[in-house]
Amino acid sequence: MQPILPGSTLGVLGSGQLGRMFAFAAHQLGYHVHTYSHEPNSPCGQVAEQEFVGDYNDTAAIANFARSVDVVTFEFENISSDAARVIEQEGLVYPGGHVLHISQHRIREKTTLSEAGLPVTPFLPVRNQEDLEHAAAAMPFPCILKTAFGGYDGKGQVSVPHAQSLASAWEELGQQEAILEQRIEFTHEISVVAVRSTTGELCCCGPIRNEHRNHILDLSVWPDPEMSRYEIAAREIARGVLETLDVVGVMCIEMFVTRDNQLMINEVAPRPHNSGHLTIEACCSSQFEQQVRAICGLPLGCMQPRHPAAMANLLGDLWSDGEPNWVAALQDPRVKLHLYGKHSARPGRKMGHLTCVADSAEEAARTVLAAREALHSR
Ligand SMILES: Nc1ncnc2c1ncn2[C@@H]1O[C@H](COP(=O)(O)OP(=O)(O)O)[C@@H](O)[C@H]1O
Ligand SMILES: [Mg+2]
Repeated sequence: MQPILPGSTLGVLGSGQLGRMFAFAAHQLGYHVHTYSHEPNSPCGQVAEQEFVGDYNDTAAIANFARSVDVVTFEFENISSDAARVIEQEGLVYPGGHVLHISQHRIREKTTLSEAGLPVTPFLPVRNQEDLEHAAAAMPFPCILKTAFGGYDGKGQVSVPHAQSLASAWEELGQQEAILEQRIEFTHEISVVAVRSTTGELCCCGPIRNEHRNHILDLSVWPDPEMSRYEIAAREIARGVLETLDVVGVMCIEMFVTRDNQLMINEVAPRPHNSGHLTIEACCSSQFEQQVRAICGLPLGCMQPRHPAAMANLLGDLWSDGEPNWVAALQDPRVKLHLYGKHSARPGRKMGHLTCVADSAEEAARTVLAAREALHSR
């Protein structure tokens, strides 16, 4: 394939913070950006040259958007297969519709990866009464029941302490297609952000150490000296995932580290990921720049860490007592502020993040958490 050169127009389907940071990276490289959004004046629409507004199921409007660009990528994977097909008919799209089809559905995702010999959390599908009875008898409890489609930030998940509570858990999820996963007693959560280009070149960043609060990512740290022992194994798993799914673009692989130091895939996302935001400051090429390079067929950039970095998310809850104290948070000159341009600060909503680079991962984490705490000061 001929590379798509600077001056061309890149389309991003989805219009949140991931699209916004993709647009910043694309602009730096001299590309134009169009976004497709379900609402006007979106985080990405505020920076893209053109914002197409429509429903994610409106195939005519999506085709119109796809025709206006040289290549389409995603920041949101839960689009219908009809929409993905329409985009593929109009021209280039990376990653391909087959990647979205698999990674947007937890049963397809875990089945495909485990059939490829990759380690995933033990799971069974729950699609009907027969599956439910089989899962209740065959799975070791405690478990977590997750909707197969459409969950994020812990939404669509119910804890299932024992087999007897499985039926009511499934009712709680409206008896929609679901996956029953064994609850893993992990010591750590890690992720690898990997990128693969149209030429098959592969580049990885991680393992990034992640801490969640209320099922939402709270803190990411990389490189973490304690996690470096998992680097070879985690990156080998990431390579296996991208090659199995034939991904062109960025993919994040979330994994658990078990008590006996094994790695298990929790889930994958076919796009830049919240845990990779620290690559903007930590790497020569961020995950967003790598997404641009990969889908355009340019050589990939370098993701070696330049400095240890830590990232802390800023959720809408921070606004509950009025505007956060930005000046206080930025007192340390190593702290960087990213705000996504969202209009309303609902609790649990990702509004921005802080990143700190420092001489050690531990210092970066301590500093970024102190900066976030300072947002509450009056
Ligand atoms: N099988 C599991 N065992 C233990 N903890 C889990 C399991 N699945 C999910 N979790 C916890 O819930 C968080 C969110 O779940 P995840 O499957 O990543 O969904 P999403 O990020 O799409 O909401 C995980 O990061 C982890 O902290
Ligand atoms: Mg997750």
